Amino acid sequence: MQSLESKRMLHDLLQDPSRYELWFQRYASGLIFRLAYGKTIRTGEESHVQRIIDVNHNLERIASPGIFLVDSWPILRYLPEWLAPFKKEGRRLHEAEFGLFRALLKDVEAEVNAGTASPSFVSTWLENKESFPMAEDEASYVFGTLFEAGTGTTAAAMMSFVLAVVLFPQWQQAMWDELDEVVGDRMPEFEDVPRLPTCRAVIKEVLRWRPVTSGGVPHQLTDDDVYNGYFFPKGTTVHANQWAIHRDPDLYPDGDTFNPDRWLNPKYITFREPLSKYPSLQNFSSFDFGRRICPGMNIAERSLYILSARIMWACRITKAKTADGVDITPPSYDYTTGFNAQPKPFLFHLEARSEQRHLAVEEAWREAEKEDPLAWTADYRLGHSLEGEVKS
Ligand code: HEM
Repeated sequence: MQSLESKRMLHDLLQDPSRYELWFQRYASGLIFRLAYGKTIRTGEESHVQRIIDVNHNLERIASPGIFLVDSWPILRYLPEWLAPFKKEGRRLHEAEFGLFRALLKDVEAEVNAGTASPSFVSTWLENKESFPMAEDEASYVFGTLFEAGTGTTAAAMMSFVLAVVLFPQWQQAMWDELDEVVGDRMPEFEDVPRLPTCRAVIKEVLRWRPVTSGGVPHQLTDDDVYNGYFFPKGTTVHANQWAIHRDPDLYPDGDTFNPDRWLNPKYITFREPLSKYPSLQNFSSFDFGRRICPGMNIAERSLYILSARIMWACRITKAKTADGVDITPPSYDYTTGFNAQPKPFLFHLEARSEQRHLAVEEAWREAEKEDPLAWTADYRLGHSLEGEVKS
């Protein structure tokens, strides 16, 4: 699924690079749509996809600490709803989100009952409910939140990757050299990944340099704790501040500098061997820590490897130019504020590295589309099985 969706992404990126944000988002949401619901996303502009993206944007906005006064003054939570606009907004957003998640689940349920469902997380759950006891509302959220957690994050990481390639062309050259030597004229596959340490180092450095969830995800202490002489009572909200952790001078000297070499050169403390295995994104701090570490980490790791390797194999990314031919250097740090940090839209130039590679991408996408077992779901419309039951 990742291979197929990445071919589609490559095809579209070469057709219209200026819509890169949409293509990355469509890749990430299309992948999760296949995994969770057994359906495809064709354009990324379908109404249910736009609703998913809206839900994401809302989450990213409201989950940022301090966005509501009640975050700082918890006593305000006792206000009645008519006096507390944040409660009204919370209710409205919950209804919109829940309506969407429930409608998606109901659609698959109707298909399972009709014997037409494609295998997916939801169909597996529906057919084996006794092994995975969850109320329907819980299940709606378990599957639905995959979108929230997996779409914006993967897309944001890829946008920072493109920004890094524009700003640090020497690393584009290093990835080209590696890909040309290891892979040559055929498109990179997952089997090649162990022999592509430079590509892995670049994507890992992107996540270190510009962690997607820079401010960390809030957790609450279940017990009193003492850390570095500071006392934290039970109930304290704690954020693992990834931005600071990724700039720890003992681990990452010159931490503001984008330097994939810190994963490749034995002179750095972060270097590990063998290079067929390291650097990897396994348990990397950009996915947070402990029991609540991102459960999509393996999916994300594979997505980032295959997307970045295939883009570098097929494309040349350079600075955009003014009408007078002067390079436009995008700002290194003009990022969205909120839960997910991604570069605000920036200009760059992207083209195929050669006509032959462009044709190879077109051919690969045509073949993949022909063999797509879910192609029949391409005209899916949310709610087709609900007869108006859930319309939030
Ligand atoms: C570059 C991509 C990604 C990054 C940087 C990322 C990062 C994170 C982080 C920091 C958390 C919070 C962990 C915590 O509670 O401390 C998280 C949670 C989560 N992630 Fe990811 N993630 C990515 C991709 C994905 C993907 C592709 C999926 C699904 C396929 C996914 C599914 C989830 C889920 C379901 C949670 C919530 C887990 C829970 O509530 O315990 N993530 N992710």
